Parts: sequence; C-alpha cells; structure tokens
Amino acid sequence: MTKDRHLRQRQIKRESIIHGRPVESKTKSSQDTNKIILAAVCMIAALCGFGYFRYQMYLRELVKTPLYSPTVLTKDSTSAASDPDRFWGTYRANTYFGLRTRSPKSPLFGMMWLNQQTQQMPPPIRHWCDQGDKLHKYGWLKHDGRHFGVQEIHDGDFKVTTSFVKRPGGSHGGDWTAYIDVSNTTTRPGLVSLMFYVALDDQGQLQPVLAKNSPRINAINGYTQDLGHFKLTFPKSTGSTLRHNYLITLAPGVNKLKEALIKGIKVEAWDKARKVPFFVLGGDQVSSDAESGPNFMVHQITAELPFSMEVLFESASNVDRPNHLQGDIFQSLLSEHSQKFENKFTNTFQLQKKGFSDGQIEFAKAALSNMLGSIGYFYGSSLVQSVYNEEPVPYWNAALYTGVPSRSFFPRGFLWDEGFHNLLISKWDPEISKDIVSHWLDLMNTEGWIPREQILGAEARDRVPAEFVVQRNQNANPPTLILPLKTLVPYILQSETEEQSLKRILPRLKTWFNWYNTTQLGPIPFTYRWKGRDRKTVRELNAKTLTSGLDDYPRASHPTDDEYHVDLRCWMALFSGLIADISKSIGEDATAYESTHALLSDNGLLDELHWSEKKQQYSDYGLHTDKVKLEKPQPKPNQPPMHLEKERVVYSDPQLGFVNAFGYVSLFPVLLKILEPTSPKLFKIFTDIRNEKLVWTDFGLRSLGQTTPLYNRYNTEHDPPYWRGAIWINMNYLALGALDYYRKAPGPYQSQADRLYVELRNNLINNMYNQYVKTGYIWENYSDKTGEGKGCHPFTGWSALVTLIMSEVYE
Ligand SMILES: *[C@@H]1O[C@H](CO)[C@@H](O)[C@H](O)[C@H]1NC(C)=O
Ligand SMILES: *[C@@H]1O[C@H](CO)[C@@H](O)[C@H](O)[C@H]1NC(C)=O
Ligand SMILES: *[C@@H]1O[C@H](CO)[C@@H](O)[C@H](O)[C@H]1NC(C)=O
Repeated sequence: MTKDRHLRQRQIKRESIIHGRPVESKTKSSQDTNKIILAAVCMIAALCGFGYFRYQMYLRELVKTPLYSPTVLTKDSTSAASDPDRFWGTYRANTYFGLRTRSPKSPLFGMMWLNQQTQQMPPPIRHWCDQGDKLHKYGWLKHDGRHFGVQEIHDGDFKVTTSFVKRPGGSHGGDWTAYIDVSNTTTRPGLVSLMFYVALDDQGQLQPVLAKNSPRINAINGYTQDLGHFKLTFPKSTGSTLRHNYLITLAPGVNKLKEALIKGIKVEAWDKARKVPFFVLGGDQVSSDAESGPNFMVHQITAELPFSMEVLFESASNVDRPNHLQGDIFQSLLSEHSQKFENKFTNTFQLQKKGFSDGQIEFAKAALSNMLGSIGYFYGSSLVQSVYNEEPVPYWNAALYTGVPSRSFFPRGFLWDEGFHNLLISKWDPEISKDIVSHWLDLMNTEGWIPREQILGAEARDRVPAEFVVQRNQNANPPTLILPLKTLVPYILQSETEEQSLKRILPRLKTWFNWYNTTQLGPIPFTYRWKGRDRKTVRELNAKTLTSGLDDYPRASHPTDDEYHVDLRCWMALFSGLIADISKSIGEDATAYESTHALLSDNGLLDELHWSEKKQQYSDYGLHTDKVKLEKPQPKPNQPPMHLEKERVVYSDPQLGFVNAFGYVSLFPVLLKILEPTSPKLFKIFTDIRNEKLVWTDFGLRSLGQTTPLYNRYNTEHDPPYWRGAIWINMNYLALGALDYYRKAPGPYQSQADRLYVELRNNLINNMYNQYVKTGYIWENYSDKTGEGKGCHPFTGWSALVTLIMSEVYE
C-alpha cells in the first residue's frame, strides 16, 4: 500500500509540471478583455489538465480495481464460524509438514528436522520442500482434504511419517493432533532431531510452559484474534530420547523461520563417549526488556531411532472435550478416518473392478492424496502492471485457496494448472472444488483479467525470482477453470441455495470471456491471438508464448499482428458453450453465447481458418519460416574477443501462411472435441497420432512431432526444450477424454479411436506407475525417448490426473 501511494505522489508531481505550467502574458497592455480571455484560457487549460490527469489516474487504477460484481464467496466464508470443517489444514504445501488456518493472519505450525550424524557444517535442516535436499521420496499416502492425512518422507537412512487428525469442538475450528514417527530404514544406528514450532504472523501472543529441571517446553499457551486462546502441548515422546531443547525468539518474518532457527542453534560436545558436536537450540533468546514478545517458539527433541512424538493443539473454546486426542484415542480416530477414505476411494474410482494391482491402486491413492494434501491457503497481493503503470503496483489484498502444481518447485497458484487440478478434486469433493474455483474467480479485476501466477504472502514471494513476480494485464492464460465447471454446475444446481452462487459465478464468467473476446483477437473475425510474444527477441529461436501455457511450443517464427492461434480458438469455443449452458440452466438469455459458440465450433469455418491443405493438419497461421538457427555472433574486427551468447539467424524470408509444427497445438480441435465425430479429418488426425515419427510413443503422446524442425531444440543457448517433445500428462488426459468421446459417439472412426484409446491409456499408466516405483515420485513431464520422469518432482498437480485416467473419468 505505501509503495503504491508513494508512486502516485510521484506521478502527481510529474503531471503538474507538464500541465500546470504558468501561461505567460504577451503584452504589457493590461486590457480587461484580454485578462478575461486569459483567465478563461487558463481555466480551460487547468480543467483539461485536471481532466487529463484524472483520466490517467483512472487508467492506472484499472489494473488493480476489483470487478464491480458481487463476489462468489460471501464475506468470511472461510472463517471458523462459517466453515469449521476446513478451517485447519495442511495449507502450507511449501513445507514438508505444516499447518495453518484459512484466515489471513493465521499462526503457522510446522516442523523441521536434522540428522545429528552429519559431517556438514552447519547441518542441513529440512523445512521447505526442496529438490536440493535430494530426498528419496516424500508425499501423502492418504489425505482427504478435510479431516486427516498420512505422509511418508524418506531421508537418507531414515523415514519420517507425519500424520494428523482433526477433531471438531468449540467455536474456532476445533482441535488437532500431529503424530510424527521417525524410524530407521537400515540397520545403521541413527540420531535425529525433530523441531516442532509455532510462529505468529504479526498478531497474537505466545507464552511457554517450561519444565522445571530441564530445557524443555512442555506446552505453549497462545492467543490470536481468529483462534482465540489455544494450547499446544508436547507430551512425552516414545523411544530413547537423549535430549530436550527449545528456542524462544523473535523471527524477522514468517518467511525467515529457518534462518531464525539456525541463528538459535549452538554446538555442544555431548558426552565423552561420542566426542562429536551436537546441534541444539539455545533456549530463550529474547531479552526481558525487548519491545515485543517472542513470535517464534520451537520444541526440539533429539533421540535414537526409532522414536515418535505427538503434538496436541487444543482450542480453549472447546470446553467439553471428552478426552485428549492422543495415544490410542488418536490412533483409533486416525484409523476411523483412514477407513472412510479407503471406502470413498473405492466407491469413487472403482479401480479394483478395472483389474489394477494393489500397488497400482496405492499409487493412484497417493496421486489423489498429494493433490488434496497440497491444497494451500495464501493471503497477500500480487504485483501487477498495465501499459499505463510506469512501475508495478500492488493488486488488492486477497485470499487464495488453491491446489499447487509442485510442493518443491511451484508451491503457489497457477491459473491454467488449477482447471486441471479441479478435474480431479471435483470428483472427490465438489465442495472443495467449488470453493477453489470461486476464490479464483473473485480475483478478477474490473477489466475481466485474472493474474495467471499468484504469488501471495511472504513465504510465496520468497521463492520467486524478482523478474517473474510482476503479472501483466495484457497476458492471458487458457481459461481452464471451465473444465471442472462442467461437473460442478450440476452439483451446484442440486441445491436451491447453491443456485445463488451460480448467479454470482455467471456474470464473472461472462466478464472473463469478454476480456478474451476483446483483448486476444486475431486479425480477422473469430480468430484469436495470444498476446505478449516478444517481437524484438534475438536470443530465442522462437519467441515464447508463455500465455498459452505451452511456453516454447513453436509458433510463427516472426510474431506479428497477423497471426492467429488454433488452440485459443478452441478454448473460446468451449468457453462460450459453457456460458450458454449455464445461462440456460438458470433461465437466463443465452442467445449471444449460443451464436458465438455455433460460429466457433463450425467445422467448415475452422477448416477455412486453420486447416493446412498442404500439410493436412490443423495449424496456427502467421509470418513464418523454418530456416532459423542459433549461432555465435562474430566479434567485430578489432574488438576484443569476448563471450557472446548465441543469437538467432534467419536464413530465408518468412512468409505469411500456416506454421509448420505438428504436436499438441495441431490436435486441439480433437482434444477439446470441437471436431464433429463424423468429420473426415479424423481419419488423418488419428493416423498421425499413432505415427511414431510424429507424436506417438510407448509412454504417452509427446508434445511435438519428431518431424517438426524445432523438435527437441534449445530455445536459447541456455534454455532446454520444454514443450518440444516431452510427454505432459494434462494434454494426454485431454487426448484420452477426446478418444473416449470419439470411440463412443456414432461416426465412421469409432474403432480407430477405440484402438488408440486403449493403447494410449495402457502406455501412460504403465510408464507413470513404473517411474513411481523406480524413483518414488510423480513427475512434471516424461521423456519421449525413455519414459523417464524429468523436470521438477514431486509434481502432483495435473500429473495426478493419472487417477482419473485409471478410473476412466473424463467429464
Ligand atoms: C532399526 O534399528 C534397530 C536397532 O538398531 C534394528 O533392530 C532394526 O532392525 C533396524 N530396522 C531396519 C529396518 O533395519
Ligand atoms: C465475441 O466477439 C465478437 C467480435 O469479435 C462478437 O461478434 C461476438 O458477439 C462476441 N461474443 C460474445 C458472446 O460476446
Ligand atoms: C521437463 O521439464 C523440466 C522443467 O521443469 C525441464 O528441465 C526438462 O527438460 C523437461 N523434461 C523433458 C524430458 O523435456
């Protein structure tokens, strides 16, 4: 906020210099009329200046002005009072194990650990999920998105199992207990420290209850506005605990907890026999005359493997709890929820009936559980910029409840991933999905734009390089939220009161659609163009189209206003159809959307605009040549030799025409089922899909055909191929959904579609499962050569759609 005000003041100053320049009088004669005219001119100039200034200010404000339409979520809908069931959760997906509430200033609870038998100084401390930690595997084995979860983390010679269960009671979201078990996976003896903490985010108080004769925190009493009074208890752990320690300190921010903890560590020579240093927390670090009390308290136990500990959170408002949620009582509630989860999983996905092995079913369960267990709650403001802003400005403070693509690498909300995530989530718990989609739609600004990457709050901001933080309002992203809405709308319509929320969703969808339908237009009617491609780039082989979601997938080699993109047109066809359907379902006029939908799904018009007769495929259109290469520039004569980065060299003039690339983009009319089941084009497309020189592999469909000139090519000297060959699960899910549709809809190519469907589905499931068994992870993308998982991991965002693929659920 302050930064924004500061910026505005600067702009005001600049404007007044330009527009408030005093008008000089030309003559010394001071006739009244002249004076009056002069005064009038001055006034008009001033008014114009003022008007202009106001207008500029208005333009600058637009990007950060919320849409003037009732929000889908009602006020405080995530509070403990409105939704106690989902108030608490593992909503800190970026940590190995962390809990918080769905309120903006929730205190943060979480865990760090360290291996005492390390050679490294300082010892590596595990906290935020980090690929650099090189853990063998980790992830939720079970998680229902509401009541409980069980996670396993494999670190070197030991395994940490984190479980939690919630229990309702009182008026602040109830109690929960976390159970953490650490056990050796080899016969080597081990010594590990667990450190469980609570940290305040700018509000509340913490009061430790210390043991009399040892440096141990027995409990912490706390208070915050949203939680009221609460108590965190650390009962006696099991196993041979060697040492208790604690830290009470003042962390500079919730994004700096690990740093604060490291600062509080001291090295102790433990006992004479071992003669090695041990790392223990240094107790109370806050001097008694400090201005503010401590905001960060950590309980540390150091024990020989195996051992376990419990942590109890109890709300003071829960006055008549029958007992404490610990020991056998905890375990029996855990197994009760676990059994319910098993039953619901079996009923929802029916995998036994489809003949999967127990191992494969556990894999599908883990995929779903990680999708649910990675749902996060974020609060803060994005940094955004429009052409009218000289510098980025903060969006309004907002909450986002959302899935995340990857806990280690992308632990925040991404617009186009989220639609895919909710295809799965909505099948498991439509209420959660509805809530997520509503949060996203409420982030729409008055222009109808939703920032595509949401970096909200200090923890999230800390993990993104500065150059990627700012979101620009010219930039779109595929409107994938429409995918889960297809399932959600009938669910919402089931209950009378819920229909109200559809009445708030619909105007937002219309505004959103209109934003695409006006800002992302192509050169001729009913063509569309992804804006934001860099026309000046010299280092890139092909200017990226980040907005399409398919980053470096080759488009026209020379970005111009003349190009138009087939994938975006298909998204718009789907989008307009959905709005028409929703409108009709609640008795509103749908004619405008029906006619737009009819035009956009007209196969004749689609062919006219996007079918390349020469290549016999659907294509983008634009200014294009295949004859491009990255080369080292020659240093000029007499120039000292220096390291110059490769630049693009164009060997033949680009021509306007269809872009020569075959891959996911060419398949869009099929992927989104825009093509009629009777279209003769299907025969050729299906044949191409099965062609191993093009997109077919034994592991799934690759993103770009091997015959495309940019197949598997670096985009700059240092940027490896991304969507230029690798197999991506979201697109394969769409492909299977489409094949399933074309094999069932009457038409001449049903059996062709059926064969492809069966084979592709087997290939995908087998490879993902084998990779999971081999590597412990589900991956961002898979190699089209070997099937190996590549890129970031665990990636249980849209790759978790494998659960739906196994279950054959595509709608
Ligand atoms: C773990 O350590 C204990 C005691 O050192 C040993 O008895 C047990 O076999 C070990 N477990 C595994 C899985 O190796
Ligand atoms: C989308 O834009 C076109 C103009 O490009 C317009 O004719 C059409 O009515 C718009 N559709 C809707 C539903 O607003
Ligand atoms: C998968 O994505 C990552 C980026 O996270 C990339 O580095 C990797 O090369 C990709 N894998 C393949 C096989 O292209």
